[in-house]
Amino acid sequence: MSRHERLLYLAAHPLAYPFLRLVAHAGPVVRVPRLGVVVNDATLAHQVLRDTSAFRKTGPGSSGALWSPVVGSAALLNMEDADHKVMRRKLSGLFTAGYVDDLCDRVLVGPLAVLADRLASGRPVDLVDTTRICAGAVICALVGIDADEATCRRMFAHGEEITAMVRLSTKELSPTQVRTAKRVLGEITSPAAVTYESGDEKTVMGRMRELGLSKDEALGTAAALFLTGTETVATLVPRLIALLCDSGVQGRLADEPDLLDRCIEEALRVTTPSPAMLRSVAEPARIGRMKVRPGERVLIATHNCARAHGHDFDPDRVPPPELNRLWFGSGTHFCIGYPLAMAEIRALARTVTRFAPLRVVRRRYSTGVLIPTYRVLEVARA
Ligand code: HEM
Repeated sequence: MSRHERLLYLAAHPLAYPFLRLVAHAGPVVRVPRLGVVVNDATLAHQVLRDTSAFRKTGPGSSGALWSPVVGSAALLNMEDADHKVMRRKLSGLFTAGYVDDLCDRVLVGPLAVLADRLASGRPVDLVDTTRICAGAVICALVGIDADEATCRRMFAHGEEITAMVRLSTKELSPTQVRTAKRVLGEITSPAAVTYESGDEKTVMGRMRELGLSKDEALGTAAALFLTGTETVATLVPRLIALLCDSGVQGRLADEPDLLDRCIEEALRVTTPSPAMLRSVAEPARIGRMKVRPGERVLIATHNCARAHGHDFDPDRVPPPELNRLWFGSGTHFCIGYPLAMAEIRALARTVTRFAPLRVVRRRYSTGVLIPTYRVLEVARA
């Protein structure tokens, strides 16, 4: 495993990470006190995620129980059955390839030009700051906030502040945490409400109104997009570039045009920006050989499932079919922002790697965060 990737995980979760890795060796499904039933195997993980009658995102210990007090009960990530299906259907036209490409072209053109200028001149660039600005700019554009760099950074920091309240064992937020998270989210949902009212179809809020979402549903969804779609992308890109530099693979990029896309897929596997998924057992069921009871919590250890298929970053590895992009989920809750995430990641990665070979000038790991991330990753032309 990349030494730096391991150190990133250890900095974020000094006790939980070694423990979670130990659990990986205990079998494909393991019952762990305080955590729940931990799934370490990709095939079983897909089975659990696809069985929405037995394993649900609502109920004790689920992500719904965690986030509903903050985002309301109709926010996609905490819905099931017909309500979820109807909402997904309404949103199916939201992140089309054309829309996400256009959005990224429009919103990222400024930050990417600054990035390219700096790299071209040989000066170092902190990719953490750059990707935060980009991810913040995209989310601001989605909800219709006209944002400068400082606003983008602030939005990003707000997201991080909320997700940092969650650890792998967190089952629900305390009343104080809920109040803080709601106050922080207000910075997104207040302007989002105005955009919804104005119905500007260039924004996702306006499009959600057009697609027939009520104001509450649209605001809940905006909060969900913010919580799930900012940090995931922003943490991945610096880690991807660090992996390219550390592994030496960047040296091959100029001669192999399809290599960057394979590197992105492999970096997603190795880093698993969303390292775990939660479900609540609703009816007696089995996960592999293990019987589970209603009310139990299931923790899909996505990171363990992905690492079982190789520790090192190797874009030449053919991903086994059972992995099937587990890092974006599976079944009805599969990441709705997948096309947008890939468009953002590609836009950033293509800009940076145009200046390969790069060298890492300085790096620092973040502590006290949910998603392992660099605090600083400065790169410059080698
Ligand atoms: C590298 C980037 C990303 C990764 C690794 C990622 C990963 C995931 C995963 C694993 C799930 C499923 C969770 C579960 O089933 O419990 C999910 C769902 C979701 N993601 Fe993403 N995501 C990313 C980017 C984004 C972006 C950019 C957005 C939108 C702005 C987004 C919005 C959502 C939403 C709203 C859901 C809930 C879908 C539902 O429950 O129907 N994600 N994501």
